[in-house]
Amino acid sequence: MIKFTIITLFQEAVEPYLKSSMMEKAVRKGLAEFDFVNLRDFGLGPHKSVDDTPYGGGDGMLLRCEPVFAAIESVKAKNPDAKVILPTPVGEIWNQKMARDFAGTSPAHYIILCPHYEGYDERILSIVDHKISLGKYVLTGGELPALIMIDSIVRLIPGVLGGEQSAEIESFSEGDNLEYPQYTRPEDFRGMKVPEVLLSGNHGEIAKWREKHSGKSK
Ligand code: ADE
Repeated sequence: MIKFTIITLFQEAVEPYLKSSMMEKAVRKGLAEFDFVNLRDFGLGPHKSVDDTPYGGGDGMLLRCEPVFAAIESVKAKNPDAKVILPTPVGEIWNQKMARDFAGTSPAHYIILCPHYEGYDERILSIVDHKISLGKYVLTGGELPALIMIDSIVRLIPGVLGGEQSAEIESFSEGDNLEYPQYTRPEDFRGMKVPEVLLSGNHGEIAKWREKHSGKSK
């Protein structure tokens, strides 16, 4: 069982994906659990403010420490072992091996803190266990990175994906060894034909063809 607590101001942006398809199936099978904490609930003052302007000047607003610490501490009060993940463009770049490592530590509870606005007060890092970047580009918030991390972790949990084979292919993959091309019916679609060898029933030759055609990302 793997649990994710997502701390966000935009639950409505995240929840529909987790209630669909494989993520929903993982929950139904008792293999994953998702819950939300509304950062606004820990905001300051009558406006429940969660952000403020940067010392030293500059554009934009930064997430303040107090609401973030209070939100994280409210989750840790129930599970002190929960680990905090911060999606940030300056984190370690996410890859398949990391997804497998996270999926392999079970039972586990991850708190994903989704920043918004231009950034966060640096002191927030003192309560974070993993800083993760989804790539060298900047998004408006941590919600999409949270979903990508969750999806890539949860699909690796035994029992979430369909066939045995899916897991087997994964187990040899470090994320740079992509799957071979696949085809389903019809054999001939508008003149584009399925490679002969895949119709041959010769499993040895099919395995060789697949090995030869499995993509390596650059
Ligand atoms: N927040 C904004 N951009 C991001 C990125 N590329 N990866 C993770 N978190 C982010």
